[in-house]
Amino acid sequence: MTNQPIVCSFPKHNTDTIKENWYEDYFNDDYWNLVYYSCSSIEITENELSFITSILEESNASTVLDLFCGIGRHANRLSEEGYIVTGLDIDPNTIKIAESSSESHVDYIVSDARDFTTNNKYDCCLLMQTSFGYFSDIENQKLISKKFIHY
Ligand SMILES: C[S@@+](CC[C@H](N)C(=O)[O-])C[C@H]1O[C@@H](n2cnc3c(N)ncnc32)[C@H](O)[C@@H]1O
Repeated sequence: MTNQPIVCSFPKHNTDTIKENWYEDYFNDDYWNLVYYSCSSIEITENELSFITSILEESNASTVLDLFCGIGRHANRLSEEGYIVTGLDIDPNTIKIAESSSESHVDYIVSDARDFTTNNKYDCCLLMQTSFGYFSDIENQKLISKKFIHY
């Protein structure tokens, strides 16, 4: 484990020109290169994984829906650990990266989370990093009320 500080510098945006649905194409290759190698290094991901799996083990969870899964850094690792994982992201290119770096089967879906419907109920719905709250309050509420998990 390294004691080096991790420095993240996100691209600056002109808030006057930023478009309403910015999250639909903000997460491009530049973003992944920046985030993967700085804010979401393998070491950070592994630490997050330890925390996630400790919670999953406590609750005997085996099925996971990774909403806004990005390049699959959690979905792929959880699948390798034996969990049954579905990963969902709006961006096809991002899902391609996730699929190509996967060493075990993850059911990847390209969809806007707001449009996603399923009859499956998962033991866990994972939302990692800044992946919730992009939408209006009403849309956020609708997404929560979809109840993807057993409870
Ligand atoms: C900050 S990244 C988080 C990725 C992943 N959870 C992680 O921790 O590495 C947010 C992700 O949300 C996806 N996204 C943005 N809007 C979305 C939407 N409406 N529906 C589904 N995915 C969306 C982006 O394509 C991006 O991959």
